[in-house]
Amino acid sequence: MTTPFPQTFPATRLRRLRQSGWIRNLTAESVLTPADLIWSMVVHDGDEARIPVSAMPGLERLNVKEAAAAAKRAAKLGIPAIAIFPHINPDRKDEDGSESLNPDGLIPTVIKAMKDAAPEVGIICDVALDPFTSHGHDGLIDETGYVLNDETSAVLLEQALLQADAGADIVAPSDMMDGRIGAIRSALEENGFSNTMILSYAAKYASGFYGPYREAIGSATALIGDKKTYQQNPANTDEALREVAMDIQEGADMVMVKPGLPYLDIVRRVSETFALPTFAFQVSGEYAMIQAAAQNGWIDGERVMMETLLSFKRAGASGVITYFAETAAQKLGG
Ligand code: PBG
Repeated sequence: MTTPFPQTFPATRLRRLRQSGWIRNLTAESVLTPADLIWSMVVHDGDEARIPVSAMPGLERLNVKEAAAAAKRAAKLGIPAIAIFPHINPDRKDEDGSESLNPDGLIPTVIKAMKDAAPEVGIICDVALDPFTSHGHDGLIDETGYVLNDETSAVLLEQALLQADAGADIVAPSDMMDGRIGAIRSALEENGFSNTMILSYAAKYASGFYGPYREAIGSATALIGDKKTYQQNPANTDEALREVAMDIQEGADMVMVKPGLPYLDIVRRVSETFALPTFAFQVSGEYAMIQAAAQNGWIDGERVMMETLLSFKRAGASGVITYFAETAAQKLGG
């Protein structure tokens, strides 16, 4: 076997480059900065300032005022963007998720409040119906519970237009319907939003790691069945490349791989194959596992947080969507 590096000991002692902090820093292949972080933030439509989410220790749902204050902190910390996820009053949910199209709803209200507070921070909005439907699915369902593709896309493009109109910089379809990126892109173009960016949740897997998120947005008890007829099979990797290729062709500016840590191989393949901005989502279950083990004293939580965030950069991600964004940015001295 030939190797590009003749590694003869003692001429080569790899430990020489590990002997102290300064040389380790100097030779580091990846770096993590606050500019790599997208703050994943849950907002709610009630009066209470902050409501803890028990399955995600340390995470609180914020009301509109708190969310605006958080946007100011993001700006100070050098966090470039915030991704907002809504928890709405269950009385406002219905079969069709019609609250998603309310121009005075929670998301448009939060976008405006955040943009007023910190216009320099990018706002990313999830395009999907699950926070708004009584059944907890990302789209419209037929009488058998099957999620309808084209009918759902037709609503999603309206939702995306509403978000763009309220001031969202990036719309991020997370629903996994076929063809929705194209539908949203044409709708944006036709309605004067040609600069609105699309970050597609292109390779999104049907994952158990989203468990705590259901409590966070209040769809825990609602979900009927699972999402395996639209989200990807965790067994597949070629399929992720087809998903990404399609979304790029339909007009996505950036793509996401989700969940994060169990899918680093997908982050690597996507970023190498397509060479476009590729983000990883460190999802609720990943956050919860780290927090739970840390609370039990089984791991050093901060250390593991930073190690996982860096691993996304090492795998080729342009950045990470994470519930740890504020804590990590503080630690990075942002
Ligand atoms: C759904 C959506 C989900 C998440 C973001 N958008 C859940 C799902 O697909 O079931 C998960 C986020 C997380 O777990 O942190 N549109």
